Amino acid sequence: MNTNRILKEKNQINIVLHDAKASNLKSVKKLENSPLNVIDHYFQSFVGLHTIKKRLKEIYAVKLINDERQKNGLPAEKQVLHMIFKGNPGTGKTTVARKIASLFYDLNILTKGHFIEAERADLVGEYIGQTALKTRNLIQRALGGVLFIDEAYSLARGGEKDFGREAIDTLVKHMEDYKNDFILILAGYPNEMDYFLEMNPGLASRFPFIHTFDDYTIEELVSIAENFLHDRQYRLTNEAKWKLKHHLRKQLLRKEPHFANARYVRNIVEKAIRAQSVRLVNAGKFAYNDLIYIDVDDLDID
Ligand SMILES: Nc1ncnc2c1ncn2[C@@H]1O[C@H](COP(=O)(O)OP(=O)(O)OP(=O)(O)O)[C@@H](O)[C@H]1O
Ligand SMILES: [Mg+2]
Repeated sequence: MNTNRILKEKNQINIVLHDAKASNLKSVKKLENSPLNVIDHYFQSFVGLHTIKKRLKEIYAVKLINDERQKNGLPAEKQVLHMIFKGNPGTGKTTVARKIASLFYDLNILTKGHFIEAERADLVGEYIGQTALKTRNLIQRALGGVLFIDEAYSLARGGEKDFGREAIDTLVKHMEDYKNDFILILAGYPNEMDYFLEMNPGLASRFPFIHTFDDYTIEELVSIAENFLHDRQYRLTNEAKWKLKHHLRKQLLRKEPHFANARYVRNIVEKAIRAQSVRLVNAGKFAYNDLIYIDVDDLDID
């Protein structure tokens, strides 16, 4: 087979399977227009997240190639896309999972693209037989979309006799039965998730995507603040930016176990917007630049 063949779709999607001999210029040009760039576009207001974007591009590439294989009468297996998200508070697990639901709908990977967020109480019942039913119903509702179970380890909380065990078993059974019809995402903090997976051997191997959301660096946190402000047409003065950076550096050095990453920064910035409003009202300053700039004094941080 000629691996340099250009596959053309009616809707102008070009995919190049380039080999080593392919002209550099040509492949660079194709990469720029690559349909996979839709992933970057989708996540453009997000900072970092390089690995997850890479994974999503792989999934989309496989989907596109499978479509082409089918057109050529070749076998094309549907992908199993269940995922585990490990990460500290505020690293983007819930936000990314929600985005994946709508992205995969737009890319024709999911038929409905709805997002169901569940926790222990949504799966685990109070008497015998109720748990399997509750969990099954939840999965039925999730078909065509994403079922996101936060703090998944809480299912294993009560030990052997707890109904959480039944929920895990029901999940395992149905994630196989409906493996191509919905995406199950289990999320939680890294240590607890690792322990949970260790305690439930055989579980990890059913999730083709196990992704760790790293803590954000100071630069990334500052960019998250700036993006958040930029989206709302605000800006930090240089002094304010310096103060924020300095504060975050101190904060990260403290290594607090529950530091809330992007959520922490978002809270600071939302508070600063309120402080700016009060300052401007009190001073009667309503010029264009006054309305845009967040000043050093608007940041209630040390
Ligand atoms: N990479 C990012 N760029 C911009 N904003 C981000 C990014 N990651 C997270 N955020 C923002 O930070 C906030 C917290 O994110 P999210 O709730 O997804 O974190 P989480 O990992 O689910 O946290 P928790 O474990 O506490 O549930 C959200 O407002 C989200 O939009
Ligand atoms: Mg969350």
